[in-house]
Amino acid sequence: MNGMKEHLQHTVATLRDYGDFRPEVGLVLGSGLGGLVDLMEVTAAIPYRDIPHFAESTVAGHSGRLVFGRIGAVPVVAMQGRFHYYEGHPMRSLAYPIACMRELGVTRLVVSNSAGGLNPGFVPGDLMLISDHINLFGDNPLIGLNDDELGPRFPDMTAPYDPGLMARADGAAAALGFEFRRGVYAGVTGPNYETAAEIRYLRTIGADAVGMSTVPEVIAARYLGLQVLGITCITNMATGIAETPHSHAEVVKTAQAAADRFCRVVMEIVAGLEGA
Ligand code: 6GU
Repeated sequence: MNGMKEHLQHTVATLRDYGDFRPEVGLVLGSGLGGLVDLMEVTAAIPYRDIPHFAESTVAGHSGRLVFGRIGAVPVVAMQGRFHYYEGHPMRSLAYPIACMRELGVTRLVVSNSAGGLNPGFVPGDLMLISDHINLFGDNPLIGLNDDELGPRFPDMTAPYDPGLMARADGAAAALGFEFRRGVYAGVTGPNYETAAEIRYLRTIGADAVGMSTVPEVIAARYLGLQVLGITCITNMATGIAETPHSHAEVVKTAQAAADRFCRVVMEIVAGLEGA
């Protein structure tokens, strides 16, 4: 995160040309979960390609948008679509939007993803609060010279996921008549799904879910001093736990089914942060 500050200032100045945004809560919306934006009161939506120093999309068409607005009385900024390591982006490109959010004034970050379930007590469609993670990327967004003004060289990771936000999330779920699962998210590079042996290994080291995102953003967020809430949508059971091979179509379908509950609970959680 060294040498990033001039870029941050340039990006934030450009974003402020679109409006005087003062978001307090940041949202990273995972695959199938971008529909949350439709429930927000939106004031501006800026394609990533129009934002200086954001990564270039490797996918044809539109990669995603930064969406400013409100949830209840709370000003928010949402990433509708995220950058993935498996697309070839370096770790620091995954961290950059998080640093921009902090520069805009965000103090709390809600990160979401869809992932495979390893815990045999889980079923597809479950929503899991991430209680902790295991970084298996073999890489880290903080590698390189450190800018001590952004964050510490050796950030603590005792409680990367904020217990207070998790308790609020449980309360919001109860109000909507369901319960979150809780578990450890293992972050891997992908893009292939795991072998059955890899899934046995992940289970042995204590993972409850496995996916290809989130860990880089959360490391950056904790480094930058943001409070983090992580929500995983279990779209399928992992290799060897599921009876059938994976298909991305299956993942997308279950994500859509669980997305409705995800959107309602995140609206409830964020709206409840007013004045908190
Ligand atoms: Cl089974 N593995 C990984 N790495 N990511 C996933 C997944 C599995 N299911 C959804 N996303």
